[in-house]
Amino acid sequence: MTFRARILGAAAGGGLPQWNCGCENCRLARAGTIPAQTQSSLAVSANGTDWAILNASPDIRDQLARTPELHPTGLRDMPLRSVLLTNGDIDHVAGLLTLREMQPFTLYATAGIHDVLAENPIFSALNPSVVTRETVALEKPAEIAPGLTATLFPVPGKVPLYMEGETVETDLVGEQTVGVELKAGGQTAYYIPGCALLNDALRARLAGASLLFFDGTLWRDDEMVQAGLGNKTGKRMGHMSMSGDDGSIAAFGEMDIGRKVFVHMNNTNPVLRPDSEERRAAEKAGWTIGQDGMEVSA
Ligand code: MLT
Ligand code: MN
Ligand code: ZN
Repeated sequence: MTFRARILGAAAGGGLPQWNCGCENCRLARAGTIPAQTQSSLAVSANGTDWAILNASPDIRDQLARTPELHPTGLRDMPLRSVLLTNGDIDHVAGLLTLREMQPFTLYATAGIHDVLAENPIFSALNPSVVTRETVALEKPAEIAPGLTATLFPVPGKVPLYMEGETVETDLVGEQTVGVELKAGGQTAYYIPGCALLNDALRARLAGASLLFFDGTLWRDDEMVQAGLGNKTGKRMGHMSMSGDDGSIAAFGEMDIGRKVFVHMNNTNPVLRPDSEERRAAEKAGWTIGQDGMEVSA
């Protein structure tokens, strides 16, 4: 068994380019000067023939079309065994609607995330006679594909944007935002596309990991404000930034982690430009900048 992980989409919600965005990166991506990126999703397998998809992005139709490993192997036979959700954000669940064509798979999520789906009747398009919704308790391993187990653990985050009330706690720890510990054939990898803060519990858990996919939403906390694109900081969105004293590059700096890959990057993030100073700094600190189609093994 060899653990395989294929980045289906390396961008955060909106993708690169984002339909309504005229920022520098989006313009460069439209011009083909820098690679475009689709929205946040990772495909994983322990045997190369049975796959699980972590988060179903609105771009899943194109992502599947571009990934031969996930193409049908018969009239209605698919290598896709399951979809697992790490939160209820639109960029992570909207793709479920694309998967509604009476194709059997198991949908894994915490009870809290399943509740969010259950409150949105449009998801009943996933016929329960073919798509089984399996509730996964925190810290209880589930076999999401043959030989591949996933254990969900809480990471600081917030409820989905469309469920926000008057006041919003941006570093809630519970079932709304989770990380995934993946084990296959003695290898361990982590997938954490959204994380507000690297707390002590998370630090202890990730120490010594061989492979980590981590929240790379923003380079700077106020990057979207500076670019004139709104008033939201990374912290307000429940994402820690890459740079700065409290950023992920510094936070992971001293930790013993084999391979570190940024995913879920917002289209404003300068690391998405291959020739940027920020990209060089992140790579110098030992990070790989994720990209659509990139395969990473543990
Ligand atoms: C996020 O990661 O902060 C969300 O996906 C934002 C959104 O819902 O667009
Ligand atoms: Mn997102
Ligand atoms: Zn943009």
